[in-house]
Amino acid sequence: MQQHHLSLLLLLLLLPTTASLGVTYSNNRQQPDRIAAAMQTLKLTSIRLKEPDPAIMRSLLYSNISIFLTVPNHMVTSMANNLSTARAWIYTHVVPYYPRAKITTISVGNAFIDVYPQAANNLLLAISNIQVSLRDLGIRKIAVSTSFSFDTVVTSPFPPSSATFQDPAGVNLMGSLLEFLSDNNFSFLINLYPYNLYRLHPEIPLGLALFQENSFNFHDDVTTRSRYWNLFDMMVDAVASAMAEAGYETIPIVVTETGWPSSDAADEFNANLGYAETYLRGLVNHLSSGTGTPLLKDGVQQVYVYELFDRKGTTTGRDWGILYPNGTAKYHVDFSAVSSRSSITVALVIFWLLVQLVY
Ligand SMILES: *[C@@H]1O[C@H](CO)[C@@H](O)[C@H](O)[C@H]1NC(C)=O
Ligand SMILES: *[C@@H]1O[C@H](CO)[C@@H](O)[C@H](O)[C@H]1NC(C)=O
Ligand SMILES: *[C@@H]1O[C@H](CO)[C@@H](O)[C@H](O)[C@H]1NC(C)=O
Repeated sequence: MQQHHLSLLLLLLLLPTTASLGVTYSNNRQQPDRIAAAMQTLKLTSIRLKEPDPAIMRSLLYSNISIFLTVPNHMVTSMANNLSTARAWIYTHVVPYYPRAKITTISVGNAFIDVYPQAANNLLLAISNIQVSLRDLGIRKIAVSTSFSFDTVVTSPFPPSSATFQDPAGVNLMGSLLEFLSDNNFSFLINLYPYNLYRLHPEIPLGLALFQENSFNFHDDVTTRSRYWNLFDMMVDAVASAMAEAGYETIPIVVTETGWPSSDAADEFNANLGYAETYLRGLVNHLSSGTGTPLLKDGVQQVYVYELFDRKGTTTGRDWGILYPNGTAKYHVDFSAVSSRSSITVALVIFWLLVQLVY
């Protein structure tokens, strides 16, 4: 019997933990009820809303969909200066729905320091005021953080071990922010696009950016003796290294945006349906494999694909949707593979336990 318990323990230890997969919805003029329907079709259970929307919140009440809310960048400074503004936002966008709607995280701004670099010292104050507002209402299960853009906040990501965080000019933000996240057990949020890095660095092989493993596509980090087969892992490990360099190793990482554009108005050769599908399929396969990254055994905690729908009736800019505006799937990618892998794991464990009980 003891031996059986030991093997169960071993099995549990060997089972990979997989990141959960969600998707971002930008406010691109869909009917609210189509969003819940699209999530059901895709079998995705986490949505990140880039803008708060009462109609969408109502449509997600009593669903099993976890909701990630974003405070608009333009409100961050007034929330930093005035607790009442933060409180009013919580009363408008959280209180009417929570906990019937499963709000899990609030990001105070999105790439705020890219948009308002001169106001960077307001960010942590605003985060703190949102957290205080939640606490005053007795809400302790909603995490409060802020999303950064990899391109702005991580410097010298090649090799990953040399990466460091870059503070906005004249502001000491990253150290205090990491301390806040660590003290509260909140995650570090980052928008991370291998597509952007690949565009900036023509020497990066396309296959490395697209998860196409072959004997030519790798990158070695001699400092950590790690071999990288995809750019996504390199970027994640750059974030992990920058965190370690700042003195924090255990803050979980959530990738709040990633994806590959399927079209580009300027006709860039690397934005097309085929590459976008290859990237998304590679991402799903990689996350469901549970192999993590060379530096993070368990990999990232969660990934939100950017984004749910293509924009309606516009021909400028890029399209990132995994669905056409009419709701039809653009790709042959099973986005539910990541979460079903975890359910198979749970099913296996239950089966194993039953076998142990019977014999
Ligand atoms: C703070 O915000 C509240 C409500 O938004 C407003 O009534 C009040 O005047 C503001 N206080 C200051 C000092 O700006
Ligand atoms: C930290 O947060 C994670 C979820 O993000 C949770 O699973 C874990 O139990 C938390 N740990 C503590 C000590 O609160
Ligand atoms: C949805 O839109 C796509 C792209 O415009 C088109 O190919 C597809 O046929 C449409 N599907 C339906 C059911 O209308």
